[in-house]
Amino acid sequence: MTDKYAVIGNPVSHSKSPLIHKMFAEQTGQDMSYEAIEAPLDGFAATIQRLRDEGYKGCNITVPFKHEAYTLANEHSGRARAAHAVNTFLFQDGAILGDNTDGIGLVTDIEQNLGCKFLFKRVLLMGAGGAAHGVIWHLFNAGAAIIISNRTMDKAEQLAAEFEGYGTVFAKSYAALAGQQFDIVINATSSSLADALPPLPDGLFKPGALAYDMMYGKQTPFLRFAQEQGAAQLADGLGMLVEQAAVAFQKWRGVSPDTAPVIARLRA
Ligand code: ATR
Repeated sequence: MTDKYAVIGNPVSHSKSPLIHKMFAEQTGQDMSYEAIEAPLDGFAATIQRLRDEGYKGCNITVPFKHEAYTLANEHSGRARAAHAVNTFLFQDGAILGDNTDGIGLVTDIEQNLGCKFLFKRVLLMGAGGAAHGVIWHLFNAGAAIIISNRTMDKAEQLAAEFEGYGTVFAKSYAALAGQQFDIVINATSSSLADALPPLPDGLFKPGALAYDMMYGKQTPFLRFAQEQGAAQLADGLGMLVEQAAVAFQKWRGVSPDTAPVIARLRA
């Protein structure tokens, strides 16, 4: 029998996850379906209950339900606990197991696909909302020293305080970045959605630096700025999207898909 999976969000019609998982399933010969389901904003728990009643094996969770998904899960992986958010459910033996594959997706894309290692690197993480929180633990695990910058300083300071036991981390305002340089600059703000650029000073990029925007699908103001400022390598979040999906797929199906042809096809 075909095993059923889905991604739950609102809105969700734009999601590339069904296409990605279809390609993974074809590639690995898995008998499964994967669809996009829009849950009402006040109907996430009811939607999950319906999926469980209908025998779905698991699902992905996207905006704006990742925190509610964390609350709903009966068990959490360590990385889901660190993120306080869940993007992957596995329905097993009457329980909901919650995982978060966003951080590992980002690190895998940057280290393996883009060839840029985090160990001993100075990383600027822009943003202190859900997206930044979802990935920061993995950046420490990969050995990065992290500066968090955010428009609202309090939130940057809170995030830095929460993770100070994990490694080197400081919170700084955008203005206070003047004169500093970084190996990797990650835009985890939602500024690109509004075609806006956080107020970054000039001269942030070390020679050879990578500029990474977690958004994908268009040339963002941040990536344009990075190019003008001489960043050596520019990347959007498409690779992260595919890599986080691959980790969820592996968890559900027990096989690891090859992500490179999927990323290439989506780019084409
Ligand atoms: P997400 O889940 O996408 O992270 P979020 O939790 O609402 O969404 O967080 C949005 C992040 O983008 C925040 O860090 C926000 O900064 P503030 O905390 O100061 O609001 C940041 N952000 C959004 N628009 C921005 C802009 N135009 N310039 C700089 N930062 C922006």
